[in-house]
This record gives sequence, C-alpha cells and structure tokens, in this order.
Amino acid sequence: MKVLWLGHAAFILTIKDTRILIDPFISGNSMAPVKVSEIKNIDYILVTHGHADHLGDTKAIALATGAKIITSFDLGSKLTEEEGGLNVIGMNIGGTYIHDNIRITMVHSFHVTEPSPSTGFIIKSDEGCVYHAGDTGLFGDMKLFGRVFGIDVAILPIGGYFTMDIPQAVEAVKLINPKIAIPMHYNTFPVIEADPYIFKKIVEEETDTMVIVLKPGEEKEIILEK
Ligand code: NI
Ligand code: MN
Repeated sequence: MKVLWLGHAAFILTIKDTRILIDPFISGNSMAPVKVSEIKNIDYILVTHGHADHLGDTKAIALATGAKIITSFDLGSKLTEEEGGLNVIGMNIGGTYIHDNIRITMVHSFHVTEPSPSTGFIIKSDEGCVYHAGDTGLFGDMKLFGRVFGIDVAILPIGGYFTMDIPQAVEAVKLINPKIAIPMHYNTFPVIEADPYIFKKIVEEETDTMVIVLKPGEEKEIILEK
C-alpha cells in the first residue's frame, strides 16, 4: 500500500486500485502541497470529525471526484442536508464498511466535538492494517485496538494543545505496538509546533516500532512481511 501525506491530518492511502482520502484539510492548510482541484481519482473520503481542520474540503472533493464520504451518522446527515448530491455512508463507532477486501472500521477517539462524535479509522486489507487516530488525547483502549486489529501502521497526532503531544504519543505507540508509526497534526499552526524527529528518536530508542516522518506531498510505499 502507499501512504501519502498532505499535511496536518490529511492522507491518501492507495490500496491496490482503491484510493482513500482521510481528513482533507487542503485550502487554509499552510502545509498542503496541492490545491483542492489537483486531488483526483478518490474512491472514499474518511472524515474523523467535523472540525474545520478535518472536514476541510470534503464536500468540494466529493462533488468533483464522486467519492463516497464515510463519517459518523450525525455528521453525515448534516452534510447531506447542507449539500445535495453527496454520497454519504454514515456509520458509528464499532461499525465496519467493506469494499472489496478492504475493511474500514470506525473507532472512538478522545476529543470533544459538537454536535457529532470524534472518531478514528482502522483500515485493514491484505496489504496491512492502518490506524488513523484522528484528533485524540491518549486513552488506554488503544491497546485494545492493537490487540483486536493487529495494527501495522499507526498514524498519530503529536502536536499537543488540541491532541496528544510527543510524550503521550510515545505512550500511544507502546499501547498499540505497530510496526510503523507516522506522526501527524503538528506544525500547521504555531500552537501545535512539534519536532517529529524527537518523536522518532524516543520511539525508536524505547520500542521496536520504526517511525516514518513524511514531508507534505511525500508518498511512501509500505510493504509488510506477511
Ligand atoms: Ni478536532
Ligand atoms: Mn484537529
């Protein structure tokens, strides 16, 4: 599978022919390496919660590409009311949407949002299991996610202030025990400044997990041993 970072919490996962865009905050994102109009060939847009830095350009990209939006039932209903022509799959925590052999499970995050819940996603396929934590503080159930799903790649916020900071994200890695961790949600705004290489150094000293620090616009092919 391929993992492309668009800055902040925005990623594109490519699993075989399926392209999954997560939390597409592009316009207004100082780190975004592309324009909204340059994002093409998207099959699904996963939205962890309704905050502007996650919902972002979801509606515009969904309308332009025909992508299906996967989000909480409540946020999905709101989007459908606001904009006709969207194809929304409204789920809730614990639910799984299946496309080909890709299983997209909505899990909880620990983050305050109104009026819809804040979530994370676990995307599991033959090519590995990716956990995008969304916005979250540290919580013990991450250990359960690791055990239940067998997470290969954990994408975790490290910027603090609105989410976990580096020391908490290191603890999250210890709970999840992934093969690879990728930091996100840092340096977009002054209040979430963080050095991803400090995260990398601590994680790689204290655990067996490898940290991949992506640059905005950088895509990494991840091939896991079976
Ligand atoms: Ni948020
Ligand atoms: Mn956020």
